[in-house]
Amino acid sequence: MLSKEELQNALLPIIEPTLKRSLVEMQWIRDMMVKEDRVSLTVICLEKSKDLQEKLESEIRLRLSELGVKDVHLRLREASEQEREEALGSELEESISSAPNEERFKGRAAGLEQLPILDPNTKVNFVAIASGKGGVGKSTVTVNLAVALARSGKKVGLIDADIYGFSVPDMMGIEETPIVEDGSIIPVERFGVKVMSMGFFIRENNPVIWRGPMLGKMLRQFLSDVDWGELDYMLLDLPPGTGDIALDVHQMLPQSREIIVTTPHATAAFVAARAGAMALQTEHEVLGVVENMAYYECKACGSKDYVFGRGGGAQLAETLHTDLLAQIPLGAPDNHPSELDFSPSVYKEDSLIGKIYNDMAKQVMNKYSKD
Ligand SMILES: Nc1ncnc2c1ncn2[C@@H]1O[C@H](COP(=O)(O)OP(=O)(O)O)[C@@H](O)[C@H]1O
Ligand SMILES: [Mg+2]
Repeated sequence: MLSKEELQNALLPIIEPTLKRSLVEMQWIRDMMVKEDRVSLTVICLEKSKDLQEKLESEIRLRLSELGVKDVHLRLREASEQEREEALGSELEESISSAPNEERFKGRAAGLEQLPILDPNTKVNFVAIASGKGGVGKSTVTVNLAVALARSGKKVGLIDADIYGFSVPDMMGIEETPIVEDGSIIPVERFGVKVMSMGFFIRENNPVIWRGPMLGKMLRQFLSDVDWGELDYMLLDLPPGTGDIALDVHQMLPQSREIIVTTPHATAAFVAARAGAMALQTEHEVLGVVENMAYYECKACGSKDYVFGRGGGAQLAETLHTDLLAQIPLGAPDNHPSELDFSPSVYKEDSLIGKIYNDMAKQVMNKYSKD
C-alpha cells in the first residue's frame, strides 16, 4: 500500500494556477486516506471556474494513476474566505521574502519547536466540552462541532481527553495512528480536523489503568509534544463529571471556554449543572449549552416526540446564565461502511443534523469574534 508521503510527493508538482504555488505545500490537499489501491482526498480550489477545477482534478488523477492508484475519490471544495486571505497574504509575504525556498522551509520547521500552543498569548481558541455524566453525546457533539468548524474553513484540533472512555478515533472512522517526525507527534487529520487520542496508543480494547497524576501528564504531552501547526480552535472532549482532568484543563488552559452537553430530562440537566458550576468555579466562561437527543421527529408527519423529556437544556442554560446553542434531535448519521471516508458518527454537511452543527459552529465563531 502506498504511504501518504509517496502520494504527497507525487502531487507536489501540481500548482494552483492563480497563486502558482504547490497545492501540497499550501496544504490545500487534505483528508488524504489510503485504503489498498483506493485513495480519497479533498482539494481546495481558489477559482470557481469549472474549467480550472476540471484541469486540476484531471492532473491529480493522472499523477495518482501513474502511481498505480486505481480508484480516486476526489472532493473539490472552494477556499473559504479565511483560506483565501491566508493564501493571498502568504503570497505577498513570499514575494517580499527573497530567501530561497529551502531556507524558508527550514525556518518554518524551526519555529515549530517552540510549540506556541501553550503560550498565554496564543491565538488558539480552546473549547472544552463537558457533561455531567456519560452517554449524553458529549463526544458526538465534540466531533461534529470540530468537523463543522473545519467545514467553515477554520483550522481545528481535537484532543480526546476522555482517557477512560476515548472514542473519538472510532467515531470519526480513523484507522491510522499518528507518526513521529523529528521528535514530535503528528496528529491524524480527518475531515480537516487534527486529532489526538489515547486510543491511538492503546492496543485493541485493553482497559487503561490511570493514576491521578498521569491524567494531567497525558494532557500536557498532548499539548506540548504534538505538532499541531497553526490552529484557530482546539476542542477538548473532557471525561464526564467533575474530576481531575477538568481541573488540569483549567490550570493549563485558563483561557479555555466550555460547552456543556445534556439530554433534555430535568434530572440530567441537574447533573450537568454540576459540570457547569465547576466550569464557573474554575473561571471558565461557559459558551453555551447543547441539548442532545432533544426529540424524535417523525419523518412521515414531522411531529416531534420528546422521548427523553423536555426543557432540560433551556433550564440549564438559564441556570448557567448562558445560551442554549442547539437542540439536536435523535438520529444516526446516514453513513455507510462502503463509503471511502466512512465514519460512524459524523453527520453529513447537508443533512438535518449536519446543518444544526453548522449553525452551532457559526454561533461559536461569533462568540469568539466579539473578543
Ligand atoms: N442525537 C443523537 N441521536 C442518536 N444517537 C446519538 C445522538 N447523540 C449521540 N448518540 C449516540 O449515543 C451514544 C453516546 O454518545 P457519546 O457521544 O459517545 O456520548 P458521551 O461522550 O457523552 O459518552 C453513542 O452511541 C452515540 O452514537
Ligand atoms: Mg465520550
